[in-house]
Amino acid sequence: MSTHFEGSTFCIHTFGCQMNKHDSERVAGMLEGLGSLPVASIEEADIVVFLTCCVREAADTRLYGQVASMKNIAVREGSPFDKRYIAVGGCIGQRDGEKLTEQLPHLDVVFGTHNLGSLPGLLSSAIENRRQAVEVLAEGTEFSSALPADREHTWAAWLPITVGCNNFCSYCIVPYVRGREKSRPLEDIAEEARRYGEAGVKEITLLGQNVNSYGRDLYGEPRFADVLDAVDASGVERLRFATSHPKDLTDEVIARFGTLRSLMPALHLPVQSGSNRILAAMNRRYTREHYLGLIEKLRAVVPDIALSTDIIVGFPGETEEDFMETYRLVEEVGYGQVFTFIYSKREGTPAAAMEDDTPREVIQERFDRLVDLVQRKAWEANQGELDTIVPVLIEGVSKRDELVLAGKSPKNQTVHAPVPAGLRPEDLIGTIVPVAIDEARTWYLSGTVVDA
Ligand code: SAH
Ligand code: SF4
Ligand code: F3S
Repeated sequence: MSTHFEGSTFCIHTFGCQMNKHDSERVAGMLEGLGSLPVASIEEADIVVFLTCCVREAADTRLYGQVASMKNIAVREGSPFDKRYIAVGGCIGQRDGEKLTEQLPHLDVVFGTHNLGSLPGLLSSAIENRRQAVEVLAEGTEFSSALPADREHTWAAWLPITVGCNNFCSYCIVPYVRGREKSRPLEDIAEEARRYGEAGVKEITLLGQNVNSYGRDLYGEPRFADVLDAVDASGVERLRFATSHPKDLTDEVIARFGTLRSLMPALHLPVQSGSNRILAAMNRRYTREHYLGLIEKLRAVVPDIALSTDIIVGFPGETEEDFMETYRLVEEVGYGQVFTFIYSKREGTPAAAMEDDTPREVIQERFDRLVDLVQRKAWEANQGELDTIVPVLIEGVSKRDELVLAGKSPKNQTVHAPVPAGLRPEDLIGTIVPVAIDEARTWYLSGTVVDA
């Protein structure tokens, strides 16, 4: 590669799920390896990389608009290049490939979800040949974890254990843009976790579209519980994972919540709908009763486990009764957090061909009712923490007040506490400190740091 990146600057715009956040740390690592420097804004950057998401329509349209509007931003003074180079990767890159370069003539590079490592070569080729460079592969051979990384935080790490998805939920585009599920060998995962443990990383989050089916492609059977054991053995203090599919959550994994030192008492278990008719149409392959049975088993192991979920409102054909089944399920489970989405039609998925005649206002009204309930239940769930002392992993300072620390409890609640007298935030960021909770709001707890 003869292009000189020294003296150049880059910024990365990342959308979508944690897999993209993980990949964005790899893009940063690769560009820094070439001698380019990270900057915060597009104006200061000579190379702009978008890691995109197309799971819902809104993000999709925004990306095209955002890239289009970059045409007129002046080249940075001091840039080693003749123009600002723009690369689009991630799920829209994978889905649209050449179409992106046709619709956005000033776009330079398109890459997909399977060839993150090709980005430096594609950029060089675009710079040297002054031509758009596009590479999208149908299938991947490597895990992006093998690429150099510039991790956002030294004390937390994402650790992908699978990529892709085999579930084909009828509304979802992810299996089409991320490909079939592939697991990383257990030894690779254990080795990476060990390195993080030695480097003093406090929290590891295992990643996959459905971590519970981990290993089926490699070992003929799911072995997610073995992954949990191996990562726990790394000595890292906090272990989390996302995402779990209810159809594959085994009793073995549930039991680990009671036995593994590092496994945090929090689980994200997307339910999507509380109606069996809609669950079947979504191809989720479990029932409301099965899901509630899982919650019961989890609570038998960890009575106050913090639960969160994803819900889609307005799936094609959803009736008021279907919606109320979802509403009652949310009321019954009492989630600490619910990510609520209005159904978004994705071309090429089976649901896109289903009859969908519910008026927009009806769906919006259901959505608003659900959000009200979610807030009420989240507030209730947080009250249990009042007057207790919780260990908080300090992540930074509050957005509104830099003299207030912000961090996460074991249950993943946001916790605020004033910086103790005589200390600076930097002294505590990345450490776990006990906080006495005296206020419990809907979306956060607050209190004071106490002596350990
Ligand atoms: N693999 C993860 C989630 C991936 S997408 C899982 O199965 O849990 C994250 C969330 O986006 C999904 O859980 C779903 O609630 C939502 N989602 C996916 N496709 C959608 C669509 N077409 N419209 C609205 N929401 C959608
Ligand atoms: Fe999409 Fe379903 Fe796979 Fe999740 S499990 S990524 S919702 S197809
Ligand atoms: Fe979005 Fe792709 Fe993740 S579509 S949710 S970035 S897998």
